Amino acid sequence: MASLDSHVLMKLVSLFLSTLFVTILSSESQCRNFESIISFGDSIADTGNLLGLSDHNNLPMSAFPPYGETFFHHPTGRFSDGRLIIDFIAEFLGLPYVPPYFGSTNGNFEKGVNFAVASATALKSSFLEERGYHCPHNISLGVQLKIFKQSLPNLCGLPSDCRDMIGNALILMGEIGANDYNFPFFQLRPLDEVKELVPLVISTISSAITELIGMGGRTFLVPGGFPLGCSVAFLTLHQTSNMEEYDPLTGCLKWLNKFGEYHSEQLQEELNRLRKLNPHVNIIYADYYNASLRLGREPSKHDTCPLVAV
Ligand SMILES: *[C@@H]1O[C@H](CO)[C@@H](O)[C@H](O)[C@H]1NC(C)=O
Ligand SMILES: *[C@@H]1O[C@H](CO)[C@@H](O)[C@H](O)[C@H]1NC(C)=O
Repeated sequence: MASLDSHVLMKLVSLFLSTLFVTILSSESQCRNFESIISFGDSIADTGNLLGLSDHNNLPMSAFPPYGETFFHHPTGRFSDGRLIIDFIAEFLGLPYVPPYFGSTNGNFEKGVNFAVASATALKSSFLEERGYHCPHNISLGVQLKIFKQSLPNLCGLPSDCRDMIGNALILMGEIGANDYNFPFFQLRPLDEVKELVPLVISTISSAITELIGMGGRTFLVPGGFPLGCSVAFLTLHQTSNMEEYDPLTGCLKWLNKFGEYHSEQLQEELNRLRKLNPHVNIIYADYYNASLRLGREPSKHDTCPLVAV
């Protein structure tokens, strides 16, 4: 589930992209044209998979307005009224919007394929359920990757062609992991308990990248977390009369933002480790965190409401 308001998400997209593409373009020898985008993740990158997987009698919110209103002029299954970050990435690279894998009847996946499903977790849903955290479905990162592998003969044919396809793609790995934390935080579980999940989430993301490198992957874009303490849902659920718990600049909950930073720092350390192990692979960290925080710090500058109204 998106933890950020879609309007806010749209605004952060442009901020974030301006930084991101400087990174891609300045990666000297790695600078080349991507032939496609292969995407894994949750609602932040879901271009219609949850909708495609849903029963007609039980459609997700993203099947109804205001989702899709301002850009596509009809609901597309995106949890946004406009485009998602992945859509802007596709536009920038001169590629079509990345089609959802699930629910496509005659999908053309030559220039991209998207496995990101809203409310997906990095960790297996059975593992999270055992801990008492309810997951809406079981299409975790591992399941997305498994389905990707199973679909390869249809997507690209021969193993050697698939290696080329994966090697020439920009692989968007996430954002994924936020829901692993969101679900327990929604249930008001203690911070220490949720923190135990961080190394497990990071190692799941790392394993997925490693597996894709083994399959020929050469360029990865890996987003960190969001400032969860600015999310309207958490500001409501975890509200407190102790004003010291709020960041005076943004009105966001400090402890939850620290948690988001912690995840992102751990992720960056792991990405550094992967870079050393795989010097021929280009692994780009995408800082969604600071980009979205800027909206909260300077709302008027970005023509947006403050992220929060405490
Ligand atoms: C996911 O859940 C469906 C039923 O909702 C089940 O048929 C399927 O086997 C499960 N898959 C995994 C990988 O757990
Ligand atoms: C935010 O930006 C600072 C300064 O560039 C950086 O050190 C930090 O890792 C970023 N935070 C996240 C969560 O990416």
